[in-house]
Amino acid sequence: MKKTLLVPLAGAVLLASCGQAGNGNAGPVYLDVDRPLEERVEDALSRMTLEEKVRVLHAQSKFSSAGVPRLGIPELWCTDGPHGIRPEVLWDEWDQAGWTNDSCVAFPALTCLAATWNEDMSALYGKSIGEEARYREKDVLLGPGVNIYRTPLNGRNFEYMGEDPYLASKMVVPYVQQVQENGVAVCVKHFALNNQEAKRHEYDAVVDDRTLHEIYLPAFKAAVQEGGAWSVMGAYNLYRGQHLCHNEYMLNGVLKQDWGFDGAVISDWGGTHDTAESISNGLDLEFGTWTNGLRGETSNTYNSYYLADPYLARLRSGEASMEVLDDKVRRVLRLIFRTAMNTRKPFGSLCSPEHYDAARRIAGEGIVLLKNDGGVLPLDLSSTRRIAVIGENAIKMMTVGGGSSSLKVQHECTPLEGIRAAAGDKAEIVYERGYVGDISGDYNGVVTGQDLSESRSESQLTADAVALAASSDAVIFVGGLNKSAHQDCEDSDRLGLELPYDQDKVISALAKVNPNLVVVIISGNAVAMPWADEVNGIVEAWFGGSEAGNALADVLFGKVNPSGKLPFTFPAKLEDNGAHALGAYDPDAVRVEYKEGIYVGYRWADKMQVKPLFAFGHGLSYTDFSYGGAKCSKSVVRSSADVQVSVDVTNIGQVAGKEVVQLYIGDDESSVERPVRELKGFRKVALEPGETRTVNFTVTPDMLKFYDPASGCWVLEKGSFTVYIGSSSTDIRTTARFEVR
Ligand code: GLC
Repeated sequence: MKKTLLVPLAGAVLLASCGQAGNGNAGPVYLDVDRPLEERVEDALSRMTLEEKVRVLHAQSKFSSAGVPRLGIPELWCTDGPHGIRPEVLWDEWDQAGWTNDSCVAFPALTCLAATWNEDMSALYGKSIGEEARYREKDVLLGPGVNIYRTPLNGRNFEYMGEDPYLASKMVVPYVQQVQENGVAVCVKHFALNNQEAKRHEYDAVVDDRTLHEIYLPAFKAAVQEGGAWSVMGAYNLYRGQHLCHNEYMLNGVLKQDWGFDGAVISDWGGTHDTAESISNGLDLEFGTWTNGLRGETSNTYNSYYLADPYLARLRSGEASMEVLDDKVRRVLRLIFRTAMNTRKPFGSLCSPEHYDAARRIAGEGIVLLKNDGGVLPLDLSSTRRIAVIGENAIKMMTVGGGSSSLKVQHECTPLEGIRAAAGDKAEIVYERGYVGDISGDYNGVVTGQDLSESRSESQLTADAVALAASSDAVIFVGGLNKSAHQDCEDSDRLGLELPYDQDKVISALAKVNPNLVVVIISGNAVAMPWADEVNGIVEAWFGGSEAGNALADVLFGKVNPSGKLPFTFPAKLEDNGAHALGAYDPDAVRVEYKEGIYVGYRWADKMQVKPLFAFGHGLSYTDFSYGGAKCSKSVVRSSADVQVSVDVTNIGQVAGKEVVQLYIGDDESSVERPVRELKGFRKVALEPGETRTVNFTVTPDMLKFYDPASGCWVLEKGSFTVYIGSSSTDIRTTARFEVR
């Protein structure tokens, strides 16, 4: 029985013919949340005019795109970033809107999350940041980033998950799933090959197919196929001469056709450069193309976007096809129905105690103990009466700056604050600056409010720090990089591997006067450490977010036993990195050939037998672990069968701890050159002193394959494979072999 329903809606009149909806609701199918998504999409699509279809394909403001008011379809709101929810900006500006209720919790940078090697932490992260986005009424979270760590100079490595495709693939999935449980879409970025900031809008990445599929695509593929990502952000750079925001091979070919991605491709802000390509090469939603929305034209300049009036003109002239248009609109409608029009999503929460706790736990699990000679750590407060804390990074807020991931936090606990809070009245904590780095504290109008000005000379600063160190029981130097240009920062790469601001000199001077020196590096990238042999304790603490100081103190004083492992190699010098060894990183080049191919990170170090400063997967504990012999369930397997691999791991120390048991596989005989070993499994196990756990891995045929560009297939060749199990990529404790027949 058909009824015609007159629904007064926002002054317009909606003539809707409707049958009895499945759940008895009378109303249009697209508004009925009980109907299947695709039915709702088709129904909404059938009701939209040509103009309405084009309007939903591009921005209407800095961070929003239009809905269809006449149909009651809401607009879509995006927000940065991967580590926390960006403060509200003005309609057309990057500058702050000056709200007073949009402060957030900053979660640790994604390098720190990757360094936990703990998928549960990724799930906790995604849940927490998803709740903050939901509470702020945001539909699309512009993150996570999973670009592979190709060079230690990439300014945005801190936003990504390291050098290994398997680790990044495993660590991105729970984040994606848990964010989207909140009815908030992730927007996995930057797809793809955005592995440097130098010339990011112009460089054409020249990568062979095998390297592309074995190294640079897996994490995106996992985010889409296992994580179920609802949107993906095109990168600024080019591949095969086409910008990644409208790239036929990557967007239509790989992402949508091969991987079956049903969501929306969103351009990076200002990443769209051509109407014809943006129509035909897979872009669905265009943001931020270099307009401040305030230019002098009579109409809103968002109509000048490539997917706006220029597109409409081609549709009206018949030059552009309706089915391509409808495919874009379907993808945007899916995104809207999954988020803005999802009536079953939770309400979220902002700055809750649970989120601070999550930030602290993730940061604590991600901190990596690189060196601990003489048991200098953990610091024993019962015998350490006076602790010197030295270095600008002990007091500098790190949640502001760094580019689009910059945040306005409700609170940030700095290392000095965390150390003071942990020490309480048990020890005297005295601070010295040690060096002056970046005294600014303002990004797009978000200000730290800190006054980091300093009048003393460099030599005076060093002298004062050395004097304090000489008169203290222990010294904690907190240095590293920061979020200013040419450090860990978007839109510029680092200029070298060295620590900036002459920190090396300060560290060496401190080491001369006090052996109880611990160097804490705050960074999102590897740094050179010429003083590594002079120092007993070295910690990589990453950018820890709102709870950085408390998490660091938890580890330094032993409340938390460190269990982080490096998600990327720390080379002793830049030339020990494949891209740099081959002169394949040139910040001035607009054609960047990835000459190192698949030999990224530890794959290069193993191939060239270069000893890294600290290896991929390295991280110490306050306890020790012993490994039994690896056992394979079979010594000969058919090419279609799994192999079960097990190993006993024992905590042979005095305190409870967590070990990341890593499984690498090497193909002993193959028709193509392959890395010595590649990460194919990891398990983080918590063990009490004396406890032994049998750790099991399932090695599937897929884990043994390499990508064959000629056939476009993944190939498993018969022959012998070696299983390497260890505590890092170079600390292999046991091996085993099996043969594929
Ligand atoms: C920036 C970044 C991207 C960010 C977007 C919006 O240029 O490349 O990661 O999400 O624009 O700020």
